[in-house]
Amino acid sequence: MKNKITFFKEAIKNIRTSGTVVPSSKFLVKKMLAGIDFKTARVLVEFGPGSGIITREMLKRMHPEAQLFCFEINDVFFEYLSRDKHPQLTILKTSATEIRKVIQKHGFDHVDYVVSSLPLAIMPPGVSLEILENSYIALKNKGEFIQYQYSLQNRKDVKKVFNKQVSIQFVTLNIPPAFVYFCKKVQ
Ligand SMILES: C[S@@+](CC[C@H](N)C(=O)[O-])C[C@H]1O[C@@H](n2cnc3c(N)ncnc32)[C@H](O)[C@@H]1O
Repeated sequence: MKNKITFFKEAIKNIRTSGTVVPSSKFLVKKMLAGIDFKTARVLVEFGPGSGIITREMLKRMHPEAQLFCFEINDVFFEYLSRDKHPQLTILKTSATEIRKVIQKHGFDHVDYVVSSLPLAIMPPGVSLEILENSYIALKNKGEFIQYQYSLQNRKDVKKVFNKQVSIQFVTLNIPPAFVYFCKKVQ
């Protein structure tokens, strides 16, 4: 997807699952990835890559032995991302709810990080909670779930699932400004 107009067209057609009309800003992407230890992480997951603005930055920073699994339910975004034949990237046309099954199928017990841009606030509450709970279980101890949102609507659920091991930062230089949840699994 060469430009923001193309992302805009696809996102607006599917506003209930995209939750936005413009891709994340470089400031938001930088903030999302700032806490990831790319030297040690070997299994990374991204939920809702869209046109791949976060995906590309993760691939640039990843260790050569690391793997990135992206879950995307939109046909156009899935096909666009599948054209990138990066050896460390697996694009799945599968809902984020399936994280545990997919990771196991690929031979991994746990993941180091989950980076999510899913619109949790407009998803059915049962589905957003299932995604949070399955991500928690899929993460290794001290692994992290990083999620941006345009509101704090899901804060209660996020804190409950991650046993209050959650810090929130605000990024103003994004359309619209966004909250970033950094959630740690501590057992
Ligand atoms: C806000 S867009 C994020 C796009 C891009 N990552 C960014 O930050 O600009 C949210 C994306 O999540 C995808 N999505 C929505 N529900 C999903 C689900 N259950 N599983 C996987 N992807 C989903 C949408 O198709 C969309 O591409």
